[in-house]
Amino acid sequence: MEFLRVRQEEAVGIIELYRPKVLNALNIPLMGELVSELERMERDDTIRAIVLTGNERAFAAGADIQEMAEEDAISMLVKDQFAQWDRMNQITKPIIAAVSGYVLGGGCELMMHCDLIVASETTQIGQPEINLGVMPGAGGTQRLTKLIGKIRAMEMLLTGEPISATEALHFGLVNRVVPVEFYLSEAIDLAHNIAAKPPVAARMIKKSVQIAQDTTLAEGLSYERNAFYLLFASADQKEGMKAFMEKRPADFKGK
Ligand code: CAA
Repeated sequence: MEFLRVRQEEAVGIIELYRPKVLNALNIPLMGELVSELERMERDDTIRAIVLTGNERAFAAGADIQEMAEEDAISMLVKDQFAQWDRMNQITKPIIAAVSGYVLGGGCELMMHCDLIVASETTQIGQPEINLGVMPGAGGTQRLTKLIGKIRAMEMLLTGEPISATEALHFGLVNRVVPVEFYLSEAIDLAHNIAAKPPVAARMIKKSVQIAQDTTLAEGLSYERNAFYLLFASADQKEGMKAFMEKRPADFKGK
């Protein structure tokens, strides 16, 4: 892989975006590699949680402007570069973003595809596409509005100005903010914590929360109830409840 660095720590897969010279600008080959790697980790039973990160200076400064500059409407439509981002939504394992520095445009949209977010104190999060004469195209207007509300989203999207990590925490856009030297280790610790949970239950919870964002309350409640009942078919439910009653730690197998 040219644009990613990948490693595994026990049950945690760690993917680092690696185009440092251009602040991890998300060109089409990088996104292709990223989605393929996520799908490989999805199939790998030894991995139970995934951390997605960049570097201290930039998680990602957006889609690659150089790649897009000479495009026209029809070439963009035919290429449909954001379609491959949709594959990321099919990943059932929890994805934790570890972000620092610039998280702009497509970088912010990529972060919002993740399930939990740990940010360094130096993080700046923004949707500056308006300054380029365009708008977000990978879900920015939709996901940001759902996550932080219309009024705050409008300001970020219409001014293009980034917000600080502290503001993002206050807006509920990130889970936690830590000093820059700890943002990755904190995200990996969080991933280990989640990886120790029963994976089938984690998968159902992730799906149920996604449904809460995408559908009505009635549909979401119906999915949740069925998923809850379905988990009683898992060995991990038997083990989790037995371990509780026997006052010992549970040993979850993902079955
Ligand atoms: N695409 C391509 N190259 C980029 C890039 C991007 N999004 N962001 C930065 N780079 C490149 C720069 O061109 C520069 O390359 P050279 O050294 O070859 O000149 C290198 O990364 C370093 O960047 P700067 O010299 O500009 O660094 P800086 O510290 O002075 O500024 C910055 C940093 C404020 C992030 C600035 O680079 C910047 O404004 N980048 C663009 C941010 C942006 O507009 N993102 C939105 C893109 S559109 C989009 O994402 C659409 C969508 O919805 C998916």
